[in-house]
Amino acid sequence: MSDGFLGLDIGTSGVKAVVIDARGAVKASLTTPMALSTPQPGWAEQRPQEWWAAAVASLRRATRAAGRTRVAAVGLSGQMHSSVFLDGRGSVIRPALLWCDGRTSAECREVTARLGEDQLRDWLANPALEGFTLPKVLWLRANEPERFARLDKIVLAKDYVRYRLTGSLATEPSDASGTLMFDTARRRWSEDLMRAVGLPPRLLPELGESSEVLGRVSAGAARLTGLVAGTPVVGGGADNACGAAGVGVVSPGDAVASWGTSGTVLAPTAEPKVDPSLRAHTFCHVVPGTWYVMGVMLSAGGAFAWHRDVMARELKARRDGNLALNDEAQEVPIGAGGVTFLPYLQGERTPHRDASARGAFVGLSLAHTRAHLTRAVIEGICFGLRDSLSIVRGLGLPIDSLLLTGGGARSAFIRRIQAEVYGLPVVRVNREEGPAYGAALLAAVGVGMFPDLATACRATLKRLSPERPRPEAHRAYEEPYRRFQALYPALKSWGTLAARPPDLPRNKVRRSRVAS
Ligand code: XUL
Repeated sequence: MSDGFLGLDIGTSGVKAVVIDARGAVKASLTTPMALSTPQPGWAEQRPQEWWAAAVASLRRATRAAGRTRVAAVGLSGQMHSSVFLDGRGSVIRPALLWCDGRTSAECREVTARLGEDQLRDWLANPALEGFTLPKVLWLRANEPERFARLDKIVLAKDYVRYRLTGSLATEPSDASGTLMFDTARRRWSEDLMRAVGLPPRLLPELGESSEVLGRVSAGAARLTGLVAGTPVVGGGADNACGAAGVGVVSPGDAVASWGTSGTVLAPTAEPKVDPSLRAHTFCHVVPGTWYVMGVMLSAGGAFAWHRDVMARELKARRDGNLALNDEAQEVPIGAGGVTFLPYLQGERTPHRDASARGAFVGLSLAHTRAHLTRAVIEGICFGLRDSLSIVRGLGLPIDSLLLTGGGARSAFIRRIQAEVYGLPVVRVNREEGPAYGAALLAAVGVGMFPDLATACRATLKRLSPERPRPEAHRAYEEPYRRFQALYPALKSWGTLAARPPDLPRNKVRRSRVAS
């Protein structure tokens, strides 16, 4: 038997378990899919109990598949900001409101009006945005007071799984900094903020470090998962921070573009750098004394999956469904024959900070086919990521190439579009496991296999040769990108009207389940 390290990522579309050995080779990698519930337009929920059930399924299969590699430590990663409300007995009070849930605009306005953006920037390094955790707690207080009265602890997705796995209620700075209840610069809970909004600090869990052991697998969880009772579980981190670690982006100077359900551009910094217009977020990295700035699109892979499921139903069940769509789109030239797609299906954070923004296809004619629409969707996602990239670069961070991770890194076609839209070389590493891989590296650091995360990344990851943009192709994207940028302001007032759900009695609002 040799020692291995397990990373578990609680994603929006699935829960993934990865086991690596001490050299970083992947011994097992399994995903259990998850569905997203959208009870009303702009809402997004999942049941934490389903995260746990999916985690158990992935852990059981991964520990079995790892064969003679014994899991010596576990690291957790997960979707950020998603609110798990627990009562005094540790039971879940209601489904979690996810990072892409846009129902809390009134609460965001209230916090901003009470404190002002300058105060929020000083205390938290971020503005009040619908997806963050604090406005969700305030929404619960205002809309479901009986449930709020039972509230004893607020935790995040991976921390709920930690609780079920070990019995400890704890988090770490990278996820805590996404709650809007955390003093990001000083890396501690913000008592000032809690006082200002009238919430008791006892609602918040204990804080440790990302590579610190914060609990051990209980006997009950061991029976369910195949892990050994007593196995150490480290703090882990937010999925974006762990995803960056999973491609070796842990220190200033590097940057990564990620294409998951959301899309992000993330660059580590040595101090908490804040976008003066607060269009990008500033959070703590999983390395002590390191932060990052990040632009966030709410629908990147989520928009592509929506497009596939709505426009190409027959491809949904096919393993190569995405590939088949990409193949069609490759036949269409740059600019998608004049079709522009706005990927704001669930509102948008960067650059617009507008939960009521909505998606659009514009420029359609009888000559267009599904292939044009697919190309427009891919280009629209890349244009949105370019918006984020410009903001992050605008903070003076020298980015001369971008690491890629997630779905947009796996397809050669989409890698090329990214390089040419950004006008930068793009780079992949030899591993494709994403945040779960970063979480596994944190586990390895936590039990002393490596002295720190940077060393762990150097020992396990290899950068592949950069893929460079063709200058003429980058130039050819300028016109479609300009069209893309002009479209949101042109449609803004229409979007605000359309985002208002129809005035249906509650029992007529259909509960739809949309796989993302
Ligand atoms: C980041 C964010 C998303 C989620 C996706 O602020 O909301 O990227 O972390 O899981």
